[in-house]
Amino acid sequence: MSDTIVPRGTFSLEELEELLLGRWPGGDAALAARARQVMADEVGEEVRLRGLLEFSNRCTSDCYYCGIRRSSRSDDQGAPLVRFDLSEEAILEGARLCLQEGYGSMTLQAGERRDRPFIDFVEGVLRRIKEETVTPDLPRGLGITLSVGEQTRETYRRFFDAGAHRYLLRVETSNPRLFARLHPPEQPLERRLQALEDLRAEGFQVGTGVMIGIPGQTSRDLARDIMFFREIDADMIGMGPYIEAAGSAREEMHRQGLLPDTSGAERLRLSLRMIAATRLVLRDVNIAAATALQALSPTGREQGLAFGANVLMPIVTPGGQRRAYQLYQGKPCVEETARECISCTPRRAAWARRPVSYHSWGDAPHARRK
Ligand code: 5AD
Repeated sequence: MSDTIVPRGTFSLEELEELLLGRWPGGDAALAARARQVMADEVGEEVRLRGLLEFSNRCTSDCYYCGIRRSSRSDDQGAPLVRFDLSEEAILEGARLCLQEGYGSMTLQAGERRDRPFIDFVEGVLRRIKEETVTPDLPRGLGITLSVGEQTRETYRRFFDAGAHRYLLRVETSNPRLFARLHPPEQPLERRLQALEDLRAEGFQVGTGVMIGIPGQTSRDLARDIMFFREIDADMIGMGPYIEAAGSAREEMHRQGLLPDTSGAERLRLSLRMIAATRLVLRDVNIAAATALQALSPTGREQGLAFGANVLMPIVTPGGQRRAYQLYQGKPCVEETARECISCTPRRAAWARRPVSYHSWGDAPHARRK
């Protein structure tokens, strides 16, 4: 795998596996430099921002690893897990904050629900954000990425028509056996794959990703995950380390034999190599430096940027709700306010010696080229 013999974006599974095992010539620093070069050539150095608003932690799914799974009853301090829904007004407040800060885009995330009132609510909120955020810089309003799980194709169409144009739905792992160990039987991988297809068919720019360092996950699995991203022609990637669940979900993780079995340092290193490898293979997509990286190191997200990520998602969820949206233990910024996360974000980019892009949606060139 030398610089001269690797053709554009073509890596074999074996080569990717070697890379993930840390055998890139010159080591991780050389790998990061290479990924960053590809990033600069294909998407530019600029860090694109999306304000992340987590607007409800109610969830009908029961993923064993997740702190807000349906069965979760307590938070990481042993207190009852409070289920919350932000009002339309609170969500609009978050959108206005993003706009004031010059963010061109926001991400709306919540637990998974397929009931009519929820779908209607989301559709209504999307329309209002779109109406109220038109500016000279953003003639079509804020860019909106939605992340509310598996829905029907009709629901995806409604969301798209209401103004969301990007959607995040991680596959979590593309290995069917591993997926089945992480989720109850009523959440099959097939439905996740169908949802990803439906999103594409409805016109969304599609983001997906995996958790890295799941017990039993091999570097071959991760190499295959990257091939999977390419197969479904993903426009955006968000992935991060697998972490102990928060609250009572941790007990379920324990019962299922799913507690992380490698050190945090190893999972962080592997996550960074995954980011670099994904950049080398997919090239012109947007890749987020996920929040979970920061659960394993105070500079986790900055390191993500150094390994080829080009998106940061500062959390703009109101301070009061953050502890109830703790997907995993040690999720950063739960004590912070939206303003604090907003002010610390440019510092993170600067630390990674990267400029920040404002006032635009910041779509991946990959999506525009289609
Ligand atoms: N460790 C790491 N990531 C997690 N997520 C949920 N629980 C965990 C965990 N324990 C991630 C999943 C999901 C996203 C919203 O949060 O990848 O797609």
